[in-house]
Amino acid sequence: MTHSNGPIGIFDSGVGGTSIWKEIHHLLPLEKTIYLSDSRNAPYGEKTQDEIIRLSIKNTQKLLALDCKIIVVACNTATTNAIKVLRESFEVPFIGIEPAIKPAALQSKHKAVGILATRGTLASQLFSKTSELYAGDIDVIEVEGRGLVELIEKGLYFSEEIRELLRELLEPMLKARIDYLVLGCSHYPYLIPVLKELLPENVTIIDSGEAVARQTKAVLEKNSLLREENPNPELPVFYSNSDPSVLSELIEAEKWGYQVSYLDF
Ligand code: SIN
Repeated sequence: MTHSNGPIGIFDSGVGGTSIWKEIHHLLPLEKTIYLSDSRNAPYGEKTQDEIIRLSIKNTQKLLALDCKIIVVACNTATTNAIKVLRESFEVPFIGIEPAIKPAALQSKHKAVGILATRGTLASQLFSKTSELYAGDIDVIEVEGRGLVELIEKGLYFSEEIRELLRELLEPMLKARIDYLVLGCSHYPYLIPVLKELLPENVTIIDSGEAVARQTKAVLEKNSLLREENPNPELPVFYSNSDPSVLSELIEAEKWGYQVSYLDF
């Protein structure tokens, strides 16, 4: 039975969903959050849809066993491939994360928008439907961020290797003179400093973190699950089923006194 004092459960294929966790924690500081990093199985972007669904169910079951009242799927690949099955299989509310194509398409002056996402996201039906709906009259340059998640999972988000790879991936977008770049993977916000070095100043980078946090708040309110008061907010809890050192670094665990533990799930 869900109740408003239960934690918000967040899962991702790995460490990238912490970019979403940060926005949720910032907007909803009275809520306890539990973050699951399925780093042992990252990346999801190259897996079959059946496999992504199986892993998403496994992560959800773990978060429900930890008494979570809502589940945030902080992974674009898991959202686009599995959220329908998750919603059909469990009673708890789910929040997903989709590439922010709509705001980019509406605001692009050049009518050219770049989307960087995993193969699994770009190949999904949910993605193509959203793209058709909002960006029918726009030049959408879709690029698979092959190799990026693996490097970020290793903590190499500022490396020369990632800079070289991004240079290559951005080339078709720059040729098309995009003025918006949509980050379609929750790992990619950690690349923003390098992307800013490589992109012309007129290119706006959009990610979905803030929108996901606002949607989480709205759904909690609608289901009477929002914590209105909490005199002693609990510290967030982080679990990883692989080496948790990169996760700890990204959330500045030492600075804030957060616990990051290994958990077999
Ligand atoms: C991945 O695991 O391949 C990427 C996660 C995402 O799509 O957000």
